[in-house]
Amino acid sequence: MKLQCRGEMSGDSNPPSRNPWFSNTLILAILIAIGLGLHLPEPVSDDYPRQFEVGLQQCRQRRATPTQVTKGRNNPRWNRGTGQQHPTVLRNVTLFDGQGFINEPVDITFLEGIITSIDRTTENTSSWSRETVVYQLEGRFVTPGLVDMHSHHLLMPFPKLPSTNDVNEKPLLGPLTPFIRAIDGFKAYDPTLELIASGGVTASLLLPGSGNIIGGQGYVVKNSRPTSEPLVERLLLEDGLPPNQKQRYLKMACGENPKSYGHTRMGLIWLLRQHLTRAQELRQRQDQWCRNAERVENSVFKGFWLGRFQGQNGQFPDSWELEATVALLRGQINLNVHCYEPQDIERLLAVCKEFNIVPRALHHALEAWRIPEAIKDFDPNITIALFAENAFYKHEAFDANLRAGKILSEHALAVAFKSDHTGEKLHSKYLLSQASLAYSFGMSADKALQAVTSVPARSIRQDHRIGYARVGYDADLAVWDAHPLAVGATPAQVFIDGVPQIGKPTGAATPDDSRLALTDFESRTPNMRPALLNTTDALCKSLRSTTRPILFTGIKRNLLSVSSSQRGLPTVLAMFVHHGKIVCLDTTEKCQMIANSQYNDVLTLHLENGHVTPGLIAVSESLGLIDIAAEDRTGDGKGEPSLHEEDLVFAQYGVHFDGPTYQRARIGGVTKAVTIPLSHAGLIKGVSAGIRTSGNISLPDAGIFQGNIALHVNLGQGSKGKVTPTISVAVKELRAILAATHSKGTIFAKAASGEIPTVVHAYNKYDILRACKVKLDFPATNIIIHGGHEAPLVAKELRKAGVPVILTGNRGAPEYWDKRDTLPGPPLSKSAARVLTEAGVQFGIAIREDWHLQSLASEAGWAAKYAKLNDQEAIALVSTNIEAILNLKPTNGGEQSGDFVVWEGNPLTGEGSVVMSFDDTSTISACWPDSPMAVV
Ligand SMILES: *[C@@H]1O[C@H](CO)[C@@H](O)[C@H](O)[C@H]1NC(C)=O
Ligand SMILES: *[C@@H]1O[C@H](CO)[C@@H](O)[C@H](O)[C@H]1NC(C)=O
Ligand SMILES: *[C@@H]1O[C@H](CO)[C@@H](O)[C@H](O)[C@H]1NC(C)=O
Ligand SMILES: *[C@@H]1O[C@H](CO)[C@@H](O)[C@H](O)[C@H]1NC(C)=O
Ligand SMILES: *[C@@H]1O[C@H](CO)[C@@H](O)[C@H](O)[C@H]1NC(C)=O
Repeated sequence: MKLQCRGEMSGDSNPPSRNPWFSNTLILAILIAIGLGLHLPEPVSDDYPRQFEVGLQQCRQRRATPTQVTKGRNNPRWNRGTGQQHPTVLRNVTLFDGQGFINEPVDITFLEGIITSIDRTTENTSSWSRETVVYQLEGRFVTPGLVDMHSHHLLMPFPKLPSTNDVNEKPLLGPLTPFIRAIDGFKAYDPTLELIASGGVTASLLLPGSGNIIGGQGYVVKNSRPTSEPLVERLLLEDGLPPNQKQRYLKMACGENPKSYGHTRMGLIWLLRQHLTRAQELRQRQDQWCRNAERVENSVFKGFWLGRFQGQNGQFPDSWELEATVALLRGQINLNVHCYEPQDIERLLAVCKEFNIVPRALHHALEAWRIPEAIKDFDPNITIALFAENAFYKHEAFDANLRAGKILSEHALAVAFKSDHTGEKLHSKYLLSQASLAYSFGMSADKALQAVTSVPARSIRQDHRIGYARVGYDADLAVWDAHPLAVGATPAQVFIDGVPQIGKPTGAATPDDSRLALTDFESRTPNMRPALLNTTDALCKSLRSTTRPILFTGIKRNLLSVSSSQRGLPTVLAMFVHHGKIVCLDTTEKCQMIANSQYNDVLTLHLENGHVTPGLIAVSESLGLIDIAAEDRTGDGKGEPSLHEEDLVFAQYGVHFDGPTYQRARIGGVTKAVTIPLSHAGLIKGVSAGIRTSGNISLPDAGIFQGNIALHVNLGQGSKGKVTPTISVAVKELRAILAATHSKGTIFAKAASGEIPTVVHAYNKYDILRACKVKLDFPATNIIIHGGHEAPLVAKELRKAGVPVILTGNRGAPEYWDKRDTLPGPPLSKSAARVLTEAGVQFGIAIREDWHLQSLASEAGWAAKYAKLNDQEAIALVSTNIEAILNLKPTNGGEQSGDFVVWEGNPLTGEGSVVMSFDDTSTISACWPDSPMAVV
């Protein structure tokens, strides 16, 4: 190693050398000072001058905020080896650019991971070289790659296992862990990356969990697996940038989650203030050190003062434990706070004010819609990072509102939708569907799409690179097979840093790949669901107390199962209803004639785009049995594991009939539900009940349309309990129950004889196969699979055994080990519904979360799109198929259960509002349930 002279080593930060005359003067001055009996220069230890320099550097760093380089930049993630090689053109696209839709077709060109031009589409292609990869998109929709500002993938990869879960650092380091870094828990192998990218989500802020008041530091990644070696750093959005250009992120949480340490909210806020005070003191000591040090540095007598400075100030005061919190106080770290309820937000912001901190975003914030002005007063630039639908799972999520996005954005607050990605139900892949739902519930189209693109990009201060499709931005783009706000819109292709992600997991496109597997393309712009007609509030009240006959006109679609006599009718119909029965569904003239000639006081409701469907049927594992999943005292309780008939839990004796989940069910046109008892792990779950959702419960049936619907059993991980410690024991015990002789009329006897179905809750293909075997060995039983994530893999066997499926995995994910072969779904594979349809398996669709019930029809619409089912077959998935599979008894002797729903708009596309639902008690079970005033 070559020895270097001092000047070469120290670079810019070296103090300017002084001329000899000056030094001589200095020596003279010192001699005079000694002569005058002043202090001698104090000794300086050998390594102190270097430490002093490092301290001064710290001082400069502590004053800086990261610079965002926008002009003439490259994509820092691009590299010659694996980056985008060929110029690429997305030709003739309808572009949402992050702000709004460009009103003419454009061509987007990108090279080396950067968008280089966006021009109006012309016939003139002479500027394209032979190297250029051209995608002819014929008007398809393109958006910037979506940005998810709150996800936990890589920290808890699929399939989830305790050994790979690194989300919350607790409890050993206590509730304040600003010093931990999410990146230290990342797994670059997480298969979820491909799944998430295939949903068009190209960048995600990955945060530590919310178990601590200060949870630690987050990082933004691109959801593109490194093609060379699986290095975590290669995933970072800011990989390749110098440190002074990198953003930092800190996670905090208030409310219920950090309480798990045993603290109250009062104690939590105290701990936070105490911690911030310590950091503030450190910051003051640092600032004092810097002021003093800079005075010495700038002094002509630096050599003289340095020794004394060392004696009095020592090294730059710092603390690894407090470093991130001090950075927060200095405004150098973007604060993201998990906080739900108005008073929690208020108290948190009060502490922020005390310490002069401004959070970038409030996350989850399901009840922020109640205090938009207060939040805006605190800071108009705070982003509210919301769930569009997810709600009710704990007390602080109980006052959620499907119109929160609309309300907050109308108050000029920035709204983002985020996934959380803690499991299948919050799958980041489907982030866009939250924008679609919020739009359906009244948020403007531009705001809804901004909420998954430019708003989160701005909130995480990356809006100079991502969140927009504009010249100079990273070439992260998604091409969609439908309008991005349409239910079920799915990418046809996704680019990250200019590299196509679908179908080419290993590298860049080459000029002969210029074709997308172009799926059918639906160009129509969806509509919001219509809001309440002004007259109907009073009208609904008056109707409740009468049995007035009603004539609906303007029915454009009849999605009831059509009897032969109704084929060939004109496209616009009328429907005449009396005593909850359809008296006439025919031409307007015919129904009008019947109404006018035989009835008095007919109410006529004119619809513009009327739809009639059967009442939808939900199969739920909680509706009416627990209101708040996290609060045991809001529910019926859980059955203890047992194999005895006398210990069976019957849902019909535990249900109640109010709360916001029922309201969402009514908004969703759900008139009936099959509710399954809650149970601890074990073989036997209990006996499901058929309940009505109208909320109008009266004797004689007290809301129950069928008391005992099916015997439910777990077969799989859910069966491992006290009495059946292994899955194998559970299978054996199930077979024993079906083989035994039971006294007549018992549930076990009915299940064994097939008088009631035996619903087997199973996800794994082998468990499903075992259930099929049970059916073959006990042909009298009526075995039904509930769940069925891996059912597509054994579809032929299901068909052969005649076992139907109630699929909860319509958009399933390989969330757990026993579900790890779940099909990823379009665009990576066929959908589960498609495979089951093609194999001829009888199936219906259920959703596991009651907060999603308003979307039951659009979930069916989504399934139908990829299974290529028509609208009637789609509605059947969530109505008549369920009825047939579970053998539900029509209570009024009709063809169906007798329930039907009149909609304005098409419910399968999220564009329909319920006008009226009728159930088989011959009453109106819901009348415009989605009033804009209602909190749902
Ligand atoms: C096509 O564009 C090129 C440059 O992009 C230009 O030189 C040429 O004149 C154009 N041709 C026509 C026919 O407009
Ligand atoms: C763009 O796509 C539209 C819709 O398919 C088509 O009508 C039009 O001709 C295309 N324009 C060009 C320049 O290819
Ligand atoms: C909010 O953001 C805008 C745009 O970045 C900025 O000009 C403004 O100063 C910010 N307002 C506050 C109160 O920080
Ligand atoms: C409907 O009611 C809303 C609120 O009550 C009112 O603002 C609006 O003007 C009304 N519209 C019509 C057409 O009466
Ligand atoms: C509830 O249902 C009963 C019939 O079961 C009916 O008489 C009553 O009017 C209904 N009440 C309301 C408020 O809808």
